[in-house]
Amino acid sequence: MRCLVTGAAGFIGSHLAQKLIAEGHDVTGIDCFTDYYPRSIKEHNLKGLKDNPRFQFIEQDLVRMDMEKHISRIDWVFHQAAQAGVRTSWGNYFEHYTHDNILATQSLLEACKGTGIKKFVYASSSSIYGDSDDLPLTEESMPKPISPYGVTKLAGEHLCLLYWKNFQVPVINLRYFTVYGPRQRPDMAFNLFIRSILKDEAIVLYGDGEQTRDFTFISDIIEANLLAAQSTVTGETINIGGGSQTSMNEVIRSLGEISGKTVRIKKHGAQKGDVRHTLADVTRARRLIGYNPRIQLHHGLREEYEWLSKNIGLYEKR
Ligand SMILES: NC(=O)c1ccc[n+]([C@@H]2O[C@H](COP(=O)([O-])OP(=O)(O)OC[C@H]3O[C@@H](n4cnc5c(N)ncnc54)[C@H](O)[C@@H]3O)[C@@H](O)[C@H]2O)c1
Repeated sequence: MRCLVTGAAGFIGSHLAQKLIAEGHDVTGIDCFTDYYPRSIKEHNLKGLKDNPRFQFIEQDLVRMDMEKHISRIDWVFHQAAQAGVRTSWGNYFEHYTHDNILATQSLLEACKGTGIKKFVYASSSSIYGDSDDLPLTEESMPKPISPYGVTKLAGEHLCLLYWKNFQVPVINLRYFTVYGPRQRPDMAFNLFIRSILKDEAIVLYGDGEQTRDFTFISDIIEANLLAAQSTVTGETINIGGGSQTSMNEVIRSLGEISGKTVRIKKHGAQKGDVRHTLADVTRARRLIGYNPRIQLHHGLREEYEWLSKNIGLYEKR
């Protein structure tokens, strides 16, 4: 298949592009290297892809580029590009969220109208649910985002469904639950925790540590994207979780075991926009696309720890 991966220099997009190439597909990757985190980290994500003859890279902003000419020969679109991060979505920086999450999604969908694409997979987020005591979260749960980021990701989902209903763009929305693993974004908790442990510094923990998340290992997310693309399902929205609920305190205990160090913690107040608990019901994913998360948290944490141990230098350069 000929695939388009947006956000190809990012954490998830780069893993996805690599897997698609490994499976024998051709990939065009688009990324504009937003400055949310350093370009050098994203360049490193692309290592091993850029010199592959089946990978073509375009450095462009989705909103500003002439997309039509690139879409015309594409079979599968994987729309991973976004301005991620909950905490920075307040205030003036919100402009980046509307640009990268709403305008970019609309531009891409417009370009896909009336083309022969076979699947459009949209990377949505569990943050569209907001705070709910009614766990596990099913796709029927009422979306009530509590962060501006969640609002823009929900808008993206709705845009996808509009273009499916009105123009038959074959979309499928995947709601990812906290993704982790090698190359995880540097602003995300595990990446920050592990780097602090490696440098023998205290971990900064927001809240009491009893907040829980359904953490999903990167290879499970990539598998979900492939299953979604191969399936005949369109016009659906599906949870993609890792299959268990773990508190931040438990994660820190696991990291203590993995590192063999005594982990010190510096506590700060809870952050606005952070939800208290998430847990995905993945029944629909199992039924519609045959998704089954495989990687247990302890194993996945070890992989991220080992990767960061070898690559910490990347994050210390400025
Ligand atoms: N990482 C998670 O835990 C998580 C959870 C839920 C949903 N998601 C979603 O998954 C996707 C990938 O997230 P990630 O963690 O890999 O983030 P990331 O920041 O590592 O990757 C996103 C990439 O998109 C690029 N980009 C942003 N706006 C662009 C534009 N207008 N044009 C071209 N490129 C643009 C950025 O430069 C970046 O390299 C996002 O859509 C995010 O909302 C991630």
